[in-house]
Amino acid sequence: MEREKLVEEIARLKEERNAIIMAHNYQLPEVQDIADFLGDSLELARKAVNVDADVIVFAGVDFMAETAKILNPGKTVLLPTRRATCAMAEMLRPEHIIEAKKKYPDAPVVLYVNSSAETKALADVTVTSANAVRVVEKLDSEVIIFGPDKNLAHYVAKQTGKKVIPVPEYGHCYVHRKFTLEDVERARRLYPNAKLMVHPECEPEVQEEADVIVSTGGMIKRAPEWDEWVVFTEREMVYRLSKLYPNIRFHPAREDATCIGMKAITLNHIYESLKDMKYAVEVPERIAEKARKAIEKMLEMS
Ligand code: 13P
Ligand code: SF4
Repeated sequence: MEREKLVEEIARLKEERNAIIMAHNYQLPEVQDIADFLGDSLELARKAVNVDADVIVFAGVDFMAETAKILNPGKTVLLPTRRATCAMAEMLRPEHIIEAKKKYPDAPVVLYVNSSAETKALADVTVTSANAVRVVEKLDSEVIIFGPDKNLAHYVAKQTGKKVIPVPEYGHCYVHRKFTLEDVERARRLYPNAKLMVHPECEPEVQEEADVIVSTGGMIKRAPEWDEWVVFTEREMVYRLSKLYPNIRFHPAREDATCIGMKAITLNHIYESLKDMKYAVEVPERIAEKARKAIEKMLEMS
């Protein structure tokens, strides 16, 4: 089907199903352009609590769609393709948390939302990169078990002065791990007037060079502070920022910083998803109930 026709059909099906399309800032431009709501992980979780529609088509990766379902058990949440997965979330297993709890029985378990529902069910509270520092600061403990991103754990430890134990020790995002000091050097050489905005999933030595370290939602909020930025996160963030702020210049720090899971969703998948009501996200209630407590605690604390 041609693109124009696809967009028309998606709009028609959305009305028929009373559906809303929620999308993450890393989605392909064609998906961003038809989304009813675009945001970072925290904004998407917040929005999911207050959706009136019967159906949420979630253009993001699986843990985000699962979070929306956990917060909205009565609604149908559709993930347009099963290939929309987060490699980092898959690195954390329940056993990692159970082992860490044996070593640090009094430490609260703080999980980045980039984690499975099964592991969230073992958490005291979840966080996103937008609120991790705020939430950890408020916890009444100097030792925190934190998973699965070791780089976000490093950032939180540095900002709060607390002892943050990463689980697993090697948890990382392969997209953000691509950025190196050579990219920083090249950015400074090519764009001497630009400032650097860096996602906290980047390696600590890249974080050290940043002008701002923020979530993708934070990048949108902070962008008007300067007129030229080099962006150290997934490539499509530059599309999102440039569309919002046509008078500010944004350069991707690397063209190849691409999240395969995010890019798995196309307009055609969204059309098929609405047409055939697939793939419905299901979380067993015994897991959802515990995971919901950890997510709701985050929403209350931030
Ligand atoms: P944000 O919450 O900053 O959008 O990050 C989500 C993510 O998956 C980053 O890789
Ligand atoms: Fe997961 Fe990294 Fe993709 Fe974010 S960019 S969804 S952390 S794999």
